[in-house]
Amino acid sequence: MQTIDDPDTIQRRCESLRREGKTIGLVPTMGAFHEGHVSLMRRACAENDIVIVSIFVNPIQFGRGEDFDSYPRDLPGDLAQAEQIGVDLMFAPSAQAIYPKGFQTYVDVTELTTGLCGASRPGHFRGVTTVVAKLFNLVMPHRAYFGQKDYQQSVVVRRMAADLNCNLEIVVLPTVREPDGLAMSSRNTRLTPEQRRAASVLYRSLRCADEQVRAGEYSAKTVLEEVRRTIETEPLARIDYVAACDPETLQPLDYISGPVLIALAARFGETRLIDNLLITAS
Ligand code: PAF
Repeated sequence: MQTIDDPDTIQRRCESLRREGKTIGLVPTMGAFHEGHVSLMRRACAENDIVIVSIFVNPIQFGRGEDFDSYPRDLPGDLAQAEQIGVDLMFAPSAQAIYPKGFQTYVDVTELTTGLCGASRPGHFRGVTTVVAKLFNLVMPHRAYFGQKDYQQSVVVRRMAADLNCNLEIVVLPTVREPDGLAMSSRNTRLTPEQRRAASVLYRSLRCADEQVRAGEYSAKTVLEEVRRTIETEPLARIDYVAACDPETLQPLDYISGPVLIALAARFGETRLIDNLLITAS
């Protein structure tokens, strides 16, 4: 596996791979790999001739006071893991290479980004779509792989790809969970042992919602009250939001009469975690 840090070099390499008729799968990441990343890389290897993984902790998707500086980083460990999985090329650019002096062009998906994490993290998705659009332009992948844990991100990136005529398939894979249900996240490594134990309440609260909806509860307010109540049994958890929304438009739902996305974010100390469950029972 070769590691490339220069955008022009990766672009030239991908152009020539395309000319040779190879299919390219891209897994965009911020590194500090866990089993969620592994599942994306494995799937990409199964479906494409060439797999490119990017590792870039994208400064413009972090707001002021957020955890850019303390975001987990483990480049040597990530390289070893990717190589073992069979990844062909690693793209690990510097911030200077991606945002050189004079950079001033951003990609903004205007509506899908207003609620959920977009409301708590203004500018976050603008940073995500800008870097993902740049990665799509550099790598020109046939397929790009994202995790369902970042559900809103996957919907936003799909919209961007359609709106900007990016000619590729967006593949979204299920959230990988720890044995106690906690969604795998690079940020989990920043939890203290007490916070880590407490954080399993998030998935329990989503399971409560699932049970209620499957039992026929159609009031989103009732379901969300139960989600809140469950999370609040954990004194270490501070809720950022809990929401029930349409899985495609991400608009809040009052009544549940079909598929519903239950999404939430909560803090454990300084660490903000997100999770969601797509409930399809009607
Ligand atoms: O999900 C992530 O790790 C990031 O948001 C992404 C898609 C790599 C863009 O920086």
